[in-house]
Amino acid sequence: MIRLGVNVDHIATLRQARRGERPDPVEAALLCERSGAQSIVCHLREDRRHIQDQDVQRLKRTIATRLNLEMSMARGIVNAALRITPAQVTLVPERRQELTTEGGLDVVRLSAALRPIIQAFQRRKIDVSLFIDPVPDHLEAAARLGARIVELHTGCYANARAQAAKGRALRTLERAARQGRALGLVVAAGHGLDYENIRDVVEISEIEEVNIGFSIVARALWVGLERAVQEMVALLKSGVREQPHAIAAR
Ligand code: PXP
Repeated sequence: MIRLGVNVDHIATLRQARRGERPDPVEAALLCERSGAQSIVCHLREDRRHIQDQDVQRLKRTIATRLNLEMSMARGIVNAALRITPAQVTLVPERRQELTTEGGLDVVRLSAALRPIIQAFQRRKIDVSLFIDPVPDHLEAAARLGARIVELHTGCYANARAQAAKGRALRTLERAARQGRALGLVVAAGHGLDYENIRDVVEISEIEEVNIGFSIVARALWVGLERAVQEMVALLKSGVREQPHAIAAR
């Protein structure tokens, strides 16, 4: 089955609206795990708009599955992540004005800066994933940099309105997933995935993991978080899989 990572940022967004203690993203993470999530994702942003440093530390101590920390390459954030030692980091671009991560990391342009950061994490046995657009050059650069995992940005696919554009974006994703797999990378995908558009993504057998936040938290308002996660897990089960890499075993 394709693995599900649930991003709990939006639980923290709600808490930060009143700067209190609830809803607690750690409590949410435990519910997600009990409902079938295989990893928990959170993004420690430089402006700390939702997830706080303490949340990441508590998640690391509390959850039973893998903690996947999304983060920029900013020195302060890299140092915080090296201290926390999550199972995995996902390096993403970050702009203060953006509502959410708007595109993939330009791993071609940033190769020289990325290399020592990736190596520092790998020395600590932290898996590194690079969040990239589904572009051949970027997949090749990610492989050259020695990242074990790439997460393909699915925004173009998820945001396409016209059927033809959606079809084109899906084929681009398919090609990128196949290329990533051929390069020996573990291929994940995420951004804007929901209960409808996930149906075609699960058919791409090279994609081993999806990371989903917004649509699950939004659905949870109507059906509760447990059921929202269970419904997504059920959709993911319908896909045919390649032999998976050993990512979950770490
Ligand atoms: N994966 C990455 C790397 C992301 O930056 C995000 C957005 O935080 C997601 C997955 C989840 O996106 P969404 O909240 O749209 O499901």
